[in-house]
Amino acid sequence: MNLLLKQILDDCRHYTAQGHVATYIPQLAKVDPGKLGIYMIEAGAHDSFAGDCFERFTMQSVVKTMILLLALMDSGIDKVRALVGAEATGKPFDTFNYSDQALTGAHINPMVNTGAIALCTLIHGETYEEKFMRLLNLTRLLADNQELTVDEDVYRSEKETGNKNRALAYMLTAYGMIHDPVEDILDCYFRACSILVTCRDLARIALVFAHHGWDPKNGKRYFTPELARYVNATLATCGMYDGSGEFALTVGFPAKSGVGGGILGVIPKRMGIAVYAPALDKHGNSMAGVKVLAALSKELDLGIF
Ligand code: DON
Repeated sequence: MNLLLKQILDDCRHYTAQGHVATYIPQLAKVDPGKLGIYMIEAGAHDSFAGDCFERFTMQSVVKTMILLLALMDSGIDKVRALVGAEATGKPFDTFNYSDQALTGAHINPMVNTGAIALCTLIHGETYEEKFMRLLNLTRLLADNQELTVDEDVYRSEKETGNKNRALAYMLTAYGMIHDPVEDILDCYFRACSILVTCRDLARIALVFAHHGWDPKNGKRYFTPELARYVNATLATCGMYDGSGEFALTVGFPAKSGVGGGILGVIPKRMGIAVYAPALDKHGNSMAGVKVLAALSKELDLGIF
């Protein structure tokens, strides 16, 4: 299997030169656009991997998966559904394109910035520091890696430049959808985006979603199948932003991307996969990462549709 993964990386490597690393967060602009890695975990099999799969990168929007999960675990499906909708937005992750007088929970989605920022308020904790620590600890648990930490430089860089997210958060405040101080909520969101992971960590998290909240490697149940189905369905419809429809056609399984260049892929009842390639396409999804997943999906018949 490692040979197949290496072959696919070699075949897709040229796509790394066709994308561009994110520059709107200055610290992200410093990464090497040529990196490419993959990690695959299946119950009852040895892990398979190739390329730069142990390179560390920040989760960025992949963490929206964890924010949604923890909001569901802490506050339940009804409260989550009351605050954020389930429909795909068909818009970029940081879109401002909401018409005046029309913004309601139904118009935002857990996988775009407005939805993820709003969902931070449904995570339990006395302070936003505590909410963030609970989010980090859940991520450590599912990744089976207690060492996960925050990249302080990326966190500071995003906090200094994140005025679009400030604008979105004040818009949510103006429409009565969030009530806590914007800077506190955003601090939790920016820290969450800056959690450092490898492909192995993301594949391990994906494995738990693939097995509906149960970790087949250690036999522990972390959350209910009902919540896993909620998250997996949300990833399938909107995990790749306005590239989600195309991704469903060419790759065909639930996935979440981040501007750090990672993609977490869930193949229900089978495996967890993650890829890393920081040069992005026009949707903010990893350019080569999507191509690698498409090739792998075709080769191993991973599509669920
Ligand atoms: O909110 C932001 O700008 C980032 N920290 C996360 C955005 C992101 O990863 C979008 N993904 N493709």
